[in-house]
Amino acid sequence: NKGKYDHYMQKEIHEQPDSLTTTMRGRLIRGDSRKMKTVLLGGLKDHLKTIRRSRRIVFIGCGTSYNAALASRPILEELSGIPVSMEIASDLWDRQGPIYREDTAVFVSQSGETADTLLALDYARENGALCVGITNTVGSSIARKTHCGVHINAGAEIGVASTKAYTSQIVVMVMLALAIGSDTISSQKKREDIIDGLLDLPYKVKEVLKLDDEMKDLAQLLIDEQSLLVFGRGYNYATALEGALKVKEVSLMHSEGILAGEMKHGPLALVDENLPIVVIATRDACFSKQQSVIQQLHARKGRLIVMCSKGDAASVSSSGSCRVIEVPQVEDCLQPVINIVPLQLLAYHLTVLRGHNVDQPRNLAKSVTTQ
Ligand code: UD1
Ligand code: F6R
Repeated sequence: NKGKYDHYMQKEIHEQPDSLTTTMRGRLIRGDSRKMKTVLLGGLKDHLKTIRRSRRIVFIGCGTSYNAALASRPILEELSGIPVSMEIASDLWDRQGPIYREDTAVFVSQSGETADTLLALDYARENGALCVGITNTVGSSIARKTHCGVHINAGAEIGVASTKAYTSQIVVMVMLALAIGSDTISSQKKREDIIDGLLDLPYKVKEVLKLDDEMKDLAQLLIDEQSLLVFGRGYNYATALEGALKVKEVSLMHSEGILAGEMKHGPLALVDENLPIVVIATRDACFSKQQSVIQQLHARKGRLIVMCSKGDAASVSSSGSCRVIEVPQVEDCLQPVINIVPLQLLAYHLTVLRGHNVDQPRNLAKSVTTQ
């Protein structure tokens, strides 16, 4: 049931304040005897000790689920101190890459039925790793075959393009990082700030959804373009990849997410006054580096659309004219949840304006159960 919406993708984008609330429900609690808030992930509580002792955490997934894991990697490394590596499921299997008994392998999948991810799961189990699932589908193959895990509880996702599952996956993986890191005194203040940020996040998502009309106007401007680049780094490298994936899979416009730190190693050659480029430059530890990227793109007459934190419009456009998307600022590790929303809206409107099928893009299936 699409309710007041024209398409499931549109409904699922606008549902995110609610789906995120459901994802967090019952999982952020007051710790015993103290006022401090803590995270309780019921499915993991008996396994946290084993996870903390592991030599490495390996995230494994495909498409949007892989991107969600990538968005969560920095905070997991920061709070756990454990090295986190990233594997696209098919590539791990193709290489028969090393997985050890001392590893915790985390399988991220909305459907819980993706063939590539399932194959990687069988492989990791055979190699003796602790296998943790993060899935939206209770009773799915991945939920059943993993040793333990967390349901993201985002509600059924029907649009082929994953939207609300992405933001709920990130929130669950941030909670995973909080749970693993919860025995470290030095990061206690940071953890409490993140928990406050999580509780506030649905309101901030509601705020960023107000950009809907602005994103429709932007889509109108871009409707006849051949290509769109998206530059991000740090916490928002994943936002660049995921924004570009949304645009290409539904609007059928070529789009590429680029790690801004790689700009001079090739992509800069593409920059001219015609190719539209989204630069994600919200406030975090990478902000000054992104400001310098913007200056360098301006110097090459790049056609920029800059996503920045509220109040930063003047400073990001000081080196040349550009369109600006201002978003609310949140805790750095939660910023990817906010920043993806305007790009989801842009992909949606581009698709409708270009006259393509939003909920069922050509050649794609919701759950990829074949290799
Ligand atoms: C569980 C209940 C929830 C109830 C809550 C109350 C289920 C599905 N969830 O939620 O309805 O409100 O207790 O305390 O009954 N698991 C995997 N692999 C996965 C995902 C999950 O093995 O990919 C396992 C978990 O380790 C856990 C179980 O499935 O044993 C349920 O996981 P989850 O729903 O996340 O647990 P709770 O949040 O505690
Ligand atoms: C993109 C998209 C796909 C899926 C991928 C993995 O919007 O939906 O990239 O993310 O096929 O699917 P799951 O998460 O079900 O394993």
